[in-house]
Amino acid sequence: MNPEQLIEYAREARKNAFAPYSRFKVGAALRAANGKLYAGCNIENATYGLTVCAERVALWKAISEGERAFTQIAVVSASRRPASPCGACRQLLWEFCGDIEVVLANRRAHREVHRLADLLPHPFDRRLLW
Ligand code: THU
Repeated sequence: MNPEQLIEYAREARKNAFAPYSRFKVGAALRAANGKLYAGCNIENATYGLTVCAERVALWKAISEGERAFTQIAVVSASRRPASPCGACRQLLWEFCGDIEVVLANRRAHREVHRLADLLPHPFDRRLLW
């Protein structure tokens, strides 16, 4: 699926990033299987450790609205190489989204497209519990 609309959505969300400590603003947007889009930005905290990544904000918004199926996520930063989801976000995305397409973009034309399974090989998930 053409990611440009999703990237634009993430780019808009990035404008709301609360990142006074790192000054590293990130926007993310998730596409649900029904076509709805959910965006998020990183939200930092003075304790540092309570900071929440943009990917997780988008994911929690979607999950709390009842969404359970996803096809694509876009992550936008202003870094020379686009930011890639942290390990914790990869694990959480895997739980709810499975092997979705992960599109990374910066403010210019740079794009990277990955599958989540490639970013999180040998995941721990429910199949190991049952
Ligand atoms: N961050 C994200 O929101 N997503 C990523 O993919 C990488 C890192 C945030 C967390 C923190 O607010 C800032 O970027 C610097 O790590």
